[in-house]
Amino acid sequence: MNSFHNKLKKEGKCVTTILKDFITNIPKAELHLHLEGTLEPDLKLKLALKNSIDIGQATIEEVQASYQFTDLTSFLNVYYPAMNVLQEEDDFYQLAMAYFRKAKENNIHYAEVFFDPQAHTSRGIAFDTLFNGYYRATQDAASLGVEAHLILCFLRDFSAESALEHYELCLLYRDKILGIGLDSDERDNPPGKFKAVFRRAKEDGFHITMHCDIDQVGSIENIREALLEIGVERLDHGTNIVEDPTLVDYVRNLEIGLTCCPVSNSFVVDDMKGSEIKTLLQQGVKVTINSDDPAYFQSYLSNDFYQIADRYNLSREEVIALVKNAFEIAWISPESKTKYLRQVDAYIQSVGA
Ligand code: ADE
Ligand code: ZN
Repeated sequence: MNSFHNKLKKEGKCVTTILKDFITNIPKAELHLHLEGTLEPDLKLKLALKNSIDIGQATIEEVQASYQFTDLTSFLNVYYPAMNVLQEEDDFYQLAMAYFRKAKENNIHYAEVFFDPQAHTSRGIAFDTLFNGYYRATQDAASLGVEAHLILCFLRDFSAESALEHYELCLLYRDKILGIGLDSDERDNPPGKFKAVFRRAKEDGFHITMHCDIDQVGSIENIREALLEIGVERLDHGTNIVEDPTLVDYVRNLEIGLTCCPVSNSFVVDDMKGSEIKTLLQQGVKVTINSDDPAYFQSYLSNDFYQIADRYNLSREEVIALVKNAFEIAWISPESKTKYLRQVDAYIQSVGA
């Protein structure tokens, strides 16, 4: 038991409750969050009614009962059809604002959030409609004390040509998009399929990242390709990297961060991958904790931290390291980084060592 635990014991406080409070209140950054994955059942039903969309469910319980996933593919099969309720610019705004309110509740001071334009343009929604709604919300998030930026993701199960077409569209909004990512079903869709569009994005000065989902066929090959051929600055998920010490050295040396999502993992592969996350943290890799699709996995960021801390006996120091890693690998200026890291330190000081 360390001095922190001794202090709590003397004060007659429960360690678990205190760690939970500590996790809830510490200033956090979220770097792996799909705006479409924040569609809560109540908003889904409200928008379905407003837009006269038959979603086949009429109550929150019915919506929740449809959340039966055993792997990434079965999750995505529920995830994409739900997006039909998003029709007008204000629907996208409402969705994103609902997340930013949750972010505030979770003491998230900084968020880089993904959006999937092809999931909407492919069903007839104009790029401008979805983009303007999301962007307006990121601006209004500031009034909640949340700094928010957008990362456009290509759907990897769509063609490379479609990715290029959407890249051209996003250039109209160049200054409003922080980075470019890749998500959706990884099976048979390796990073190399999108080499050309990511090369352009890099040349144009976008930050770049990519999903390397958990336990995929060819996971380690895809991680290698993302790192060495595409030159990503972060890996989304990516914990299979523990299988290759050379690649672990590579990401540690270049400070390439991993945006891990333990609760999400527990839904799609029945394992939080907490041991891998802990090992990578101990090896000095910049691993972070994130919520991924919180409405579907019923867990926002504080709970994600709490679940992994509780299950894998993370120390308070390990929790702090995970929190700080997120600010350290965020795509912000050194001055902003210092500002946020000071907020974290001030909080830690305020609760005592
Ligand atoms: N889209 C939303 N969540 C995702 C995930 N975990 N992996 C790939 N694509 C996604
Ligand atoms: Zn994701």
